[in-house]
Amino acid sequence: MKRVTLHDKTFCTYIPNEQIEQDIQAVADQLNKDLADVEHPIFVCVLKGSFMFYASLMQKLTIQPEIEFIRLSSYSGTQSCGEVKQVMGLNRDLKGKTVVIVEDIVDTGNTIVKLHELFRCQEVADIRICTLVMKPDVYDKPLKIDYCAREIENRFIVGFGLDYDQLGRELKDIYILES
Ligand code: IMP
Ligand code: MG
Repeated sequence: MKRVTLHDKTFCTYIPNEQIEQDIQAVADQLNKDLADVEHPIFVCVLKGSFMFYASLMQKLTIQPEIEFIRLSSYSGTQSCGEVKQVMGLNRDLKGKTVVIVEDIVDTGNTIVKLHELFRCQEVADIRICTLVMKPDVYDKPLKIDYCAREIENRFIVGFGLDYDQLGRELKDIYILES
C-alpha cells in the first residue's frame, strides 16, 4: 500500500489507476450507446476536479462530443460548505443542445443541483449528469445521477483530479484519508 501526506493529513491507496480506467470505460460504453443518435452533445468539464476524469472519458468516446469547461468553487478542506459559486462560465448558446455535466465527485449534491439549474434555464434539449465518484450515503437530492463510474463510502478521497486544499490532484491513483 502506498501512502501520501498532503498538508497535515495522510492518505493511503484506495482505487488503483487500472480500476479507475476500467470504471471510466464502462461509463464511456454507456454514453456511446445512449448518445449515439444525438448530434454533438456538449460535454461540460467541471473544473478543477474533473480534469483527469474528463480527459480519460473523452478519449474513450466514439461519438463526437463538443468540449466545454466551467469552473465553480465551494469546498475548503475536507467538508463541503453547502454554498456554490460560479467562477468561470460558459459563454455560448446552449439552446436545443444535449449537455452532459462531467463532475469529479457528487457528495451532498449541492454542486450538481446548482449546475443543473444553471443549464436548465438555457432551453437545452437534455441534461445528463456524469460523475467519476459519488457517495450515496450522503447524497440527498432528488436529481438522478445518470452515469457514475464508482460509488464509495462516506470518506474523504484525493487523487485523479480530486484535491485536499489544492494538493493531490496529480496523483494517478485515488487515495483515502486514513482514519
Ligand atoms: P457537493 O456539492 O457536496 O456534492 O460536493 C461536490 C464537490 O465537493 C466536488 O466537486 C469536490 O470538489 C468536493 N468534494 C466532495 N467530496 C470530496 C472528497 O472526498 N474529496 C475531494 N473533494 C471532495
Ligand atoms: Mg468539483
